[in-house]
Amino acid sequence: MGETFIPLADLRYAADLPRVPEALTAPTGLLSDRLGRPLRDLRISVTDRCNFRCSYCMPKELFDRDYRFLPHSSLLSFEEITRVARLFVAHGVVKLRLTGGEPLLRKGLEVLIAQLAALRTPEGAPLDITLTTNGSVLARKAQALRDAGLKRVTVSLDGLDDAVFRRMNDVDFPVADVLAGIDAALRVGLAPVKVNMVVKRGTNDDQILPLARHVRTHYGPQVVLRFIEYMDVGSSNGWRMDEVLPSAEVLQRLDQAFGLEPLAAAAAGETAARWRYRDGRGEIGVISSVTQAFCSDCNRARLSTEGKLFLCLFASRGHDLRALLRGRTPDGQAWSDAQIAAAIGLVWAEREDRYSELRGALQAEPGSGERRVEMHYIGG
Ligand code: GTP
Ligand code: 5AD
Ligand code: SF4
Ligand code: SF4
Repeated sequence: MGETFIPLADLRYAADLPRVPEALTAPTGLLSDRLGRPLRDLRISVTDRCNFRCSYCMPKELFDRDYRFLPHSSLLSFEEITRVARLFVAHGVVKLRLTGGEPLLRKGLEVLIAQLAALRTPEGAPLDITLTTNGSVLARKAQALRDAGLKRVTVSLDGLDDAVFRRMNDVDFPVADVLAGIDAALRVGLAPVKVNMVVKRGTNDDQILPLARHVRTHYGPQVVLRFIEYMDVGSSNGWRMDEVLPSAEVLQRLDQAFGLEPLAAAAAGETAARWRYRDGRGEIGVISSVTQAFCSDCNRARLSTEGKLFLCLFASRGHDLRALLRGRTPDGQAWSDAQIAAAIGLVWAEREDRYSELRGALQAEPGSGERRVEMHYIGG
């Protein structure tokens, strides 16, 4: 008989059972955490699988044929996701982002998008519904996604040179197919498209200028290119500070080549600092979680593929909402929307996460022994 493996994913991330208060107060949309931060953005991971093996996220050596992804029965159903999203919207969420893994690998995703697109804020406004994808199957799916109610899309692309990009995704995937995905997204009206490039010093930083030049020339203001500092998410990417290229350096290179000027933030709590080209050929952004933390107004909550709520990208413990969705009260009833909403409210009210701001201090301390959540599991 073969050995029995206990799936890593089930062991790795501890989760607390959320507390349901006795006295239920209806959500007001005015929830704030211990640091006074509101809840506005829910990022929903719909699968922990991906067809890429980016070294900074799912290094091939660890995520190989023996790696056990979550079994289908563990995943939240579309109905469960929509129910949770509706409760978050009652608490003030106005933006939903579908992530993964690679969200377009989840079968029938457009059905979920259509359900989410039907939700309304307490004021009756539709939500900002978006998706982060590696773009590999976007050309095929863009029209259906748009028809289902997706508003816009963010595509990851770590270089323009085919050899560099194939090395970054580590599955030999060509740049041309991702560019075709971006073109299709623009064609069906998912504009402006954001393109995210994770920058690793010495690996793809020579792609900053070529990619910027390509986007400026071919797309102008229709595509916003954002440069992300390589982060120490999870525990498997072997992160080292000397591989981080600070955004200040990215900006310096772009300014020298094309001329930049700063733009004001479009919304509170944004991840990216915005800049525009002086010649009017569009804007770029830098996401500087390592050198300039943006926790002070972080309004993002994350729902994992199997229904755990995480309050920070760098958390190691979640809050098991699925246990409420599928479980029973002590007297045998299903938990009600009011009860689950109240439990979510309590969890957020007690939030004090601000990992990026504390990064230096936390790394100096001996770890607690708990593994930090991986990005392919919780999404970007
Ligand atoms: P827009 O609404 O399109 O501006 O989205 P966004 O910037 O909120 O989301 P996006 O998924 O494009 O985020 C860009 C990248 O920033 C992600 O892929 C992550 O690498 C990083 N990021 C997003 N949210 C956080 C966060 O809360 N903390 C940290 N440290 N990084 C984040
Ligand atoms: N550092 C920075 N960005 C990362 N992403 C994934 N892992 C990391 C990391 N370690 C980005 C991806 C994608 C989004 C989902 O998150 O490139 O744009
Ligand atoms: Fe897949 Fe995105 Fe992770 Fe790359 S960064 S392995 S595309 S989930
Ligand atoms: Fe928010 Fe955590 Fe990122 Fe800070 S590190 S911005 S608290 S998710």
